[in-house]
Amino acid sequence: MDILLGLQWGDEGKGKVVDFIAPDYQVVARFQGGPNAGHTLHFNDIKHVLHQIPSGAFHPEIKNLIGNGVVLDLHTLKNEILSLTRLGVDLTRNLFISKKAQLIIPTHRALDIASEKQKGAHKIGSTLRGIGPAYADKVARTGLRVGDIVQPDFLERYHALKTKHLQQLRHLEYEPDIKEAEEQFLEAIAFIKQYPLVDSEYFINDEIKKGSRILAEGAQGSLLDIDFGSYPFVTSSNTTVAGACTGLGVAPHHVQQVMGIFKAYCTRVGSGPFPTELFDETGERLRQIGHEFGATTGRPRRCGWLDLPALKYAVMINHATQLFMMKADVLSEFEEIKICTHYKLPDGTLTDRLPYSLNVTQVTPVYKSFQGWQCQLSNLKSFEDLPPALSNYIQFIEQEVGVPIMMLSYGSDRQHTLVRNKSKLLHPNHR
Ligand code: GDP
Ligand code: IMO
Ligand code: MG
Repeated sequence: MDILLGLQWGDEGKGKVVDFIAPDYQVVARFQGGPNAGHTLHFNDIKHVLHQIPSGAFHPEIKNLIGNGVVLDLHTLKNEILSLTRLGVDLTRNLFISKKAQLIIPTHRALDIASEKQKGAHKIGSTLRGIGPAYADKVARTGLRVGDIVQPDFLERYHALKTKHLQQLRHLEYEPDIKEAEEQFLEAIAFIKQYPLVDSEYFINDEIKKGSRILAEGAQGSLLDIDFGSYPFVTSSNTTVAGACTGLGVAPHHVQQVMGIFKAYCTRVGSGPFPTELFDETGERLRQIGHEFGATTGRPRRCGWLDLPALKYAVMINHATQLFMMKADVLSEFEEIKICTHYKLPDGTLTDRLPYSLNVTQVTPVYKSFQGWQCQLSNLKSFEDLPPALSNYIQFIEQEVGVPIMMLSYGSDRQHTLVRNKSKLLHPNHR
C-alpha cells in the first residue's frame, strides 16, 4: 500500500495528484476525515470537488473505498454520488463503504456550531461539518456506525443519541431546528443501502493478497493532525501516516511509498498559529494568483512563504519517501521568493525544529531569499526544461529536507504535471 498525504495545513492539492496517479492502482481508499475535506480534480474542462468519495472516482476500473477511520455524512455522500451521476460517473459497482465508518448525524453538526460559538474569539475555525463531535462520540464509544443502519434497533439508537445531543445543545444555549436535516439524513440512509457496505479490513487485505495496488488518500494535512498538529487548532483525526493503518486495518508492514504533498508556499484555513503568514500585499497576491479560497467552505485561505521547519517535521513524522511540490506556477510572477529556514526563539537562538508552541510571539521566522524565475511554466516535458531559478528552489528544498521531489505541479489541470522519473515514482528505492 502506498500512502499519499498532505504535509502542511491541508489543501496542498491531494485530489489532483490522486486523480493523476490513480491509473497505477486498483484501489483508492480514504482513511480519515470526512466532509471537512475538499479535494479538487480538474481535467477535460471538468472541475470537480470531492468531499468524502475517494479521488479515484473518475476512473471506472478503480475500486474506491471509504475506510473505517472516516466520519461519514450520508446526506453529503448522497449528493456527491448524485452530482457524479450527472457527470456520467456511475459508482454503483466501484464505491465500497466500511461498515465501521462512523456516522455524522445532524446533531453533530449542530454541536460543532454550538461549540465554536461558545469558544468565541478562541474558535478553531472548524468547517462546521460535525467532525469534532462525531470523532468525540467515536472515542467515547457512543457513536453510530455505517453497519448499524441495517440493524433492527438502528432508529432507537439514533433517537437515543440525538436526545443526548439535544440535551447538550440546550446546555450550550443553542437549540437548532434539525427537522429538515433529519429528514435528509433518513432519506440518505435508504439511498446508501444500494451501495456495498463492507467489512473493509477484509476487503482491503484480500485485495492486498490478490496483489492489487492500493493507494491510501489522506485528507487535511500533517499540521492538522490531532497528535502532531498545532493543537488545539487541528482536526480530530490522525492525518499522518499511522492514520492510514488504523483507518483501513492495514498493518504497517504493507506500507511501501509515502508520498508527501506540499505547496511551493503555505496556506491555512481556520484559526491557529502560522509563523510564515503574510499580512501584506504579497500575501494577497499569493491568494489571488493561487485562487486560495477553501474548496469546502469558500473561506479565503491565509497565505505565506514555505516553512521548512514545519515541512521537515511533517516529513519526519510520516517518513515521506518522496515529495510532490504543487502550485509552482503561482510563484512564477514573483521577483523574490522566500523560504523560512529557521525560527528565532525569544532567547535569540535559532532552530529548525518545531517548538511546543508555534505562536508568533514565540517564534520569528528567519528567511532565505531566492530570485524568482519570472516566466510562465507551460508544456514542461522534463525537469531539465525548468527555468534555472526554479531548479535552484527545488534543489534547495531537497537538500534541506533530504527527500527527492519526484513530481512538480504547475497548474490545476491533470496535464500540468511533471514527473521526474515514472518508474522511480512508483517503485523507487531512494532510501
Ligand atoms: P486538496 O484538499 O489537497 O485536494 O486541495 P484543494 O483541492 O482543496 O486545493 C488545491 C487547489 O489548487 C485546487 O483549487 C486545485 O484545483 C488547485 N491546484 C492543484 N494543483 C495546482 C497547481 O499546480 N497550480 C495551480 N495554480 N492550482 C493547482
Ligand atoms: P482537505 O482534505 C484545509 C481545518 C479547518 C479548521 C480545522 C478543524 O481539503 O485538505 P474541522 O472541520 O476538521 O473540525 O476543522 O481544520 N480543515 C481543513 N483545512 N483543508 C482541509 O481538508 C481541512 N479540513 C479541516 O479549517 O481550521
Ligand atoms: Mg481541500
